[in-house]
Amino acid sequence: MLPPSRFVKKFYLVLTLIIAGVLCKRKNVLFLVADDMRPELGAYYGKDFPAPVYPPMHTPNLDWLASRSLLLKRAYCQVALCCPSRTSLLTSRRPDTTHIYGFDKYFRKTAGNFTTIPQYFKENGYESVGMGKVFHTGGCSGNDDPPSWSEPYFRAPNYHYWSGETKHSWIAVNETAEKNTPLPDTQIAQNAIKVLKRVGPVSQKEDKPFFLAVGFHKPHLPFVFPERFLKYYPKEVIRPPANPQAPVNMPNIAWFNYWDLRTRYKDIDKLNISGAPNHTLPLNITLTLRRAYYSAVTFTDSLIGDIIQELIKQNLLDDTIISFWGDHGWKLGEHGAWCKETNFELDAHAPMMISVPGYTEKGIQTERLTEFVDLFPTLVEAAGLKPLSLCPINSSSVKTCTEGDSLIPLMKKPDAKWKTKVFTQFAREDWEHPDWMGYSMRTDNFRYTEWVKWLKDPINKPDWSILKGVELYDHTRDPQENYNFASDKSYAEIRSRLSKELRAGWRKNNNI
Ligand SMILES: *[C@@H]1O[C@H](CO)[C@@H](O)[C@H](O)[C@H]1NC(C)=O
Ligand SMILES: *[C@@H]1O[C@H](CO)[C@@H](O)[C@H](O)[C@H]1NC(C)=O
Ligand SMILES: *[C@@H]1O[C@H](CO)[C@@H](O)[C@H](O)[C@H]1NC(C)=O
Ligand SMILES: *[C@@H]1O[C@H](CO)[C@@H](O)[C@H](O)[C@H]1NC(C)=O
Ligand SMILES: *[C@@H]1O[C@H](CO)[C@@H](O)[C@H](O)[C@H]1NC(C)=O
Ligand SMILES: *[C@@H]1O[C@H](CO)[C@@H](O)[C@H](O)[C@H]1NC(C)=O
Repeated sequence: MLPPSRFVKKFYLVLTLIIAGVLCKRKNVLFLVADDMRPELGAYYGKDFPAPVYPPMHTPNLDWLASRSLLLKRAYCQVALCCPSRTSLLTSRRPDTTHIYGFDKYFRKTAGNFTTIPQYFKENGYESVGMGKVFHTGGCSGNDDPPSWSEPYFRAPNYHYWSGETKHSWIAVNETAEKNTPLPDTQIAQNAIKVLKRVGPVSQKEDKPFFLAVGFHKPHLPFVFPERFLKYYPKEVIRPPANPQAPVNMPNIAWFNYWDLRTRYKDIDKLNISGAPNHTLPLNITLTLRRAYYSAVTFTDSLIGDIIQELIKQNLLDDTIISFWGDHGWKLGEHGAWCKETNFELDAHAPMMISVPGYTEKGIQTERLTEFVDLFPTLVEAAGLKPLSLCPINSSSVKTCTEGDSLIPLMKKPDAKWKTKVFTQFAREDWEHPDWMGYSMRTDNFRYTEWVKWLKDPINKPDWSILKGVELYDHTRDPQENYNFASDKSYAEIRSRLSKELRAGWRKNNNI
């Protein structure tokens, strides 16, 4: 029998351990976002990336994160454009539910007062802190969606970096210039570290976990990065894209003329490039832009490394869920095209990885088809919060629900039975009031797209009887999507099956 005082001490020790055990279950979340970053990362080497990852990418921090994450090798965004893609991911509702296809509308005003990922964590007792580009700023999000955050939002000043005459598509910033005017993403990373120094210790002492969302502006145009990152990509190793032409038999509506690159920057604007299919940029410009993009990717990677270092320093790695995603893909001269804004594989395919303590330390990769709407229910399950229910067909008055699937089963079994079709869409031409909608579906072997008449607000649905173009790419023999087989007789049966599945939509195809 212990003397009473020792007994009491032991009792309190056990009680403390039990409480600590309960508290440990509430994991923090570090929510990292990059802009226009295609899955061109060391971790993505392999047969599934449509254009081989080349040159060897220097992304040690994201590769390290991938090595202790569920790496989604085939994750697809819902729309290859910042505002609609982010709105969809952050609400876990598809574009036909958010009604956001362009930049000007705010989902809370047009579709419903939907709960976002950071808002859900905030409502569950988390300190929700946001900075940089998480939502697409401005009208798209009512200025970074105030209901999502517990504290005032941090934006980096002068986020384009240049002004007037210096308005270039890319700038390698020297050390002096960088010291005089810190790059916006550097300021965002430094702010993240500052916030971690405050919320990290609180999360360990009290039951107040943090949800920290950090959105980087790079590698979005203009490719502005510290000069030192060029050294990872010597000029001699940069290659042109393997397929500088538009797909054979591509319908015109599939094409985007990449005006954002052609007209916004003086160095490219003066070249007077038409942006029409098969009229791409001169070879030397193509190589220079590719090199600058890769350098901007490595710059972003290094900032992510700085933030993770702070987590490690505070011994928080085992208590923190980390997710990373880039809002959609990007073309670097493939198809003779640039930027995003299409339904091609290169625009729809995007990087995503999720590190969950206790589930993913060994590093798990899955080839299962996954979607950006899957992230919200995954983070909720990983954190042990109340699971989200599936949205009803009309969810405009349902605050919190999901149109995706938690990816936790893939952490336990990366080849688990899973959905076999994923959906991306793109509106043409006026994004705010589209006349046409391109619905695109990826299956294991095919990408199939129908561009159909869009019945505008307030109807907001497709008229499948009026078709403007059809695309069928066979990834078993044409992973670069260089041949549209939609009108090829030998594909008639496949086309008809894919068409039925596409029109049935995600809800009827979800066989998990
Ligand atoms: C939307 O939801 C938030 C959070 O629940 C609430 O604070 C806000 O008042 C709601 N807005 C409208 C317009 O209902
Ligand atoms: C650094 O860049 C600035 C701005 O472009 C330029 O004015 C300056 O001459 C450069 N300094 C060096 C040492 O190259
Ligand atoms: C682009 O070039 C390819 C290959 O030469 C050709 O098959 C295709 O028809 C061209 N497309 C257009 C729209 O000119
Ligand atoms: C730019 O290109 C168009 C054809 O695409 C041509 O008509 C026009 O004259 C060109 N402008 C200049 C300034 O070269
Ligand atoms: C690209 O090549 C053209 C033609 O050889 C040349 O006039 C131009 O200065 C080059 N541009 C760059 C940025 O190297
Ligand atoms: C969806 O439901 C809301 C009420 O919750 C209703 O006002 C709206 O008209 C419905 N939309 C459609 C397309 O049925």
